[in-house]
Amino acid sequence: MSDEKKIDIEKDDFSRRQFFLKLGLGSLSIAAAGTAAFAYQYLEPNVLFEPSPIVNVGNPDRYPLDSVTLDANMGIFIIHSAEGFFSLSAVCTHLGCLTAWKPELGIIACPCHGSKFYVSPPAGKRPGDKIEGPAPRPLPWKRMWVNDDGDLLVDRSIDIPPMQFVRV
Ligand code: FES
Repeated sequence: MSDEKKIDIEKDDFSRRQFFLKLGLGSLSIAAAGTAAFAYQYLEPNVLFEPSPIVNVGNPDRYPLDSVTLDANMGIFIIHSAEGFFSLSAVCTHLGCLTAWKPELGIIACPCHGSKFYVSPPAGKRPGDKIEGPAPRPLPWKRMWVNDDGDLLVDRSIDIPPMQFVRV
């Protein structure tokens, strides 16, 4: 074999070796990057950020006497009655639909399966009690209080016994 041919074969062999070496290094790099990404995801805190259950519904002056105000985003009613302020959940206790205030009837009604609830009940009943429909429970009263700035706050996560009015 001539020297020139021998050099060519060695060159081919060398470049093939380099190719496989680079291929191997590339594969290792991809695997390392995948492992690093997986480790980062594993170590990163997996926290679900939910909005606070406490809602500042503003100054009591916003709510005229005998008014029922739905905060649809927060799923609560703010009610100003002669006895004081209170908050009812606006989420139907049947299957969780958002209820609505029906001023023409003076009641809260669920659009899904027709449950109806009192706001100004007759004697022996309480606001939130069911009038009719498949809802198994009254609309719960939510904890309400006044902060140092004079705003009304509602904690949507805390149900309270009925008839606890806030007077300002
Ligand atoms: S969800 Fe309200 S009556 Fe069914």
